[in-house]
Amino acid sequence: MARLTARGAWARRAALYDWLEGSDLRRASAKKRLFGRARGKTLLVGAGTGLDFRHLAAGSDVTAMDISDAMLTRARARAAASPARVRLVAADALRLPFADGVFETVITSCTMCSVPDPLRAFTEIRRVLGRSGRLLMFEHVRSTQPVLAATLEVMTWWSRRSGTEMNRETVMSASAAGFRIARIESVFLDIILAVEALPTNDMFDRHEDGATGSGWHADDPRGAPPTCAGAA
Ligand SMILES: C[S@@+](CC[C@H](N)C(=O)[O-])C[C@H]1O[C@@H](n2cnc3c(N)ncnc32)[C@H](O)[C@@H]1O
Repeated sequence: MARLTARGAWARRAALYDWLEGSDLRRASAKKRLFGRARGKTLLVGAGTGLDFRHLAAGSDVTAMDISDAMLTRARARAAASPARVRLVAADALRLPFADGVFETVITSCTMCSVPDPLRAFTEIRRVLGRSGRLLMFEHVRSTQPVLAATLEVMTWWSRRSGTEMNRETVMSASAAGFRIARIESVFLDIILAVEALPTNDMFDRHEDGATGSGWHADDPRGAPPTCAGAA
């Protein structure tokens, strides 16, 4: 029922989505940097109308999925125009129709504010990612600043009706589903984040580029990164 409701809500939003969300405020350079870290067979979860397809790396192999057929219909032209090879798939992020470990990279972009159960979606993402895979997330999250956090709570009271929650602890949900945070970039305060996360593996947590996933990236020139609200 919840999933049917979500599909219906996003079908209704599809018609106005580009008009409401397609502005230049979509942080193109941060997305290009983040998506440029994708390697190999890539899954984009919650593709929407494909506004982000132009930021995908040239020649990359991307399966872009969304629960809403109405969104995907609008994404078709952008898939054809993308520098990447984009294949569109209608599917539910809570029940991904892919075998274990088939993707090297999973991308989310303002997706985890919208799926009904982020922990379950992350668990599915972890399942379809290979052991040496990476998760690249461009997400807006709850702030650690009390005033901002309260503002986001109020905004969520309203935005939730159309399927979006502004106050999610997305980084913590990813950790709870078995990811370690390798890099985090503040795109806007501590509300919009570009995050790279690695699946935790039983025996080895070391990635080929040296990121261990044990905390923030040691080379980050910005110093201490924003933390997730409620984190120790
Ligand atoms: C805020 S929009 C973001 C779309 C796109 N990534 C962008 O930045 O423009 C969230 C998207 O998530 C999709 N979505 C919501 N619940 C989903 C689910 N359970 N499975 C797959 N997609 C879902 C919606 O249909 C919508 O297209």
